[in-house]
Amino acid sequence: MNICETISDLRNRLKTAGRIAFVPTMGNLHDGHISLMHQARQQGDCVVASIFVNRLQFRPGEDFERYPRTFEADCQRLRAADVDVLFFPDETEMYPQPQRYHVEPPVEHDQILEGEFRPGHFRGVATVVTKLFNIVQPQVALFGSKDYQQLMVIRNLVADLALPITIIAGDTVRAEDGLALSSRNGYLTAAERAEAPRLYRLLSDMRQAILRGERDYAKLEQHVAETLREHGWRPDYVAVREKLGLQLPSAHESGLVILAAALLGSTRLIDNLEV
Ligand code: PAF
Repeated sequence: MNICETISDLRNRLKTAGRIAFVPTMGNLHDGHISLMHQARQQGDCVVASIFVNRLQFRPGEDFERYPRTFEADCQRLRAADVDVLFFPDETEMYPQPQRYHVEPPVEHDQILEGEFRPGHFRGVATVVTKLFNIVQPQVALFGSKDYQQLMVIRNLVADLALPITIIAGDTVRAEDGLALSSRNGYLTAAERAEAPRLYRLLSDMRQAILRGERDYAKLEQHVAETLREHGWRPDYVAVREKLGLQLPSAHESGLVILAAALLGSTRLIDNLEV
C-alpha cells in the first residue's frame, strides 16, 4: 500500500490508476470501514482510502481533540484489506489557510436531526468530502449507512453539483449484541458498553411495531425516548422519517427509516433502522 501525505504525491500516484473506488474515513478503523474497503475492491481498479480527522465538522466542545488516532493499526488493517493507496494528509495539507469557501447543505437537510444538535456539522462534512473528491477524483465513493443523514447529504451534494461519482452505501456492521460499530464505542466504560445495545433493541422493537401496522409514530418515538431515559440515557432525538430526504412521513411515503441519537455517559451514539 502506498501512503501519500500530500495532494501532489497522491495525484502522481493516481495518474494511471484506472477506475478509482474511494473510501473516506477519519481513521480508528473497525469492521464497518473494512467491509467498505472490500466492497470498494469490487468496484474499482484502484482502492483509495483516506484518513483525516476533519476539524470543520466538529463543534467547539465536541470530541475533535480526543478522537482516536490509531494510524499504525489502521495501516495494518488497510493492507490486509488490499487497499492500494492511503491518503493521509495533515491539517496544513488540507487546510493550508483557514477554509474560506464552504459547501452549504440546504436548511431542510442541514438543520434537522443530527444538524439540529450539531449545527454546522454537515457543512463541515460536505466541504471536506467535496475537497477530498476533488483531490482523489474517484469514479465511485463508499460510505457507511450508520451515518444515514450524512449519506443523504452526500448523495444530494453529488446530484446537485453534478459530480461524476457513483455513491455506494455499505450496510451498518454490528457487534453480536446489535450495537452498531463506531469509533466512538471506544469511549464507553464497561458498564456503558453492556447497556449500549439497548438502543438497537428498542429501534428493532419500534420497527416491528410499525411493520405490524402501528401508525402513531409520535407515541413510538416517545416510548423509546422514555425507556432510554429510564436507563440513564439522554436522548437527543428518536424519529421516524421518510427514507428519501428524511422529512416527516407523508401519506405518499415510499419507505421509512427510524433514526436516533442519545448520550450514554459522555458518549453520543447514533443508530438507524430502515423499515
Ligand atoms: O464518516 C466519516 O468518517 C466522516 O464524516 C467523513 C465522511 C470521512 C468526512 O470527514
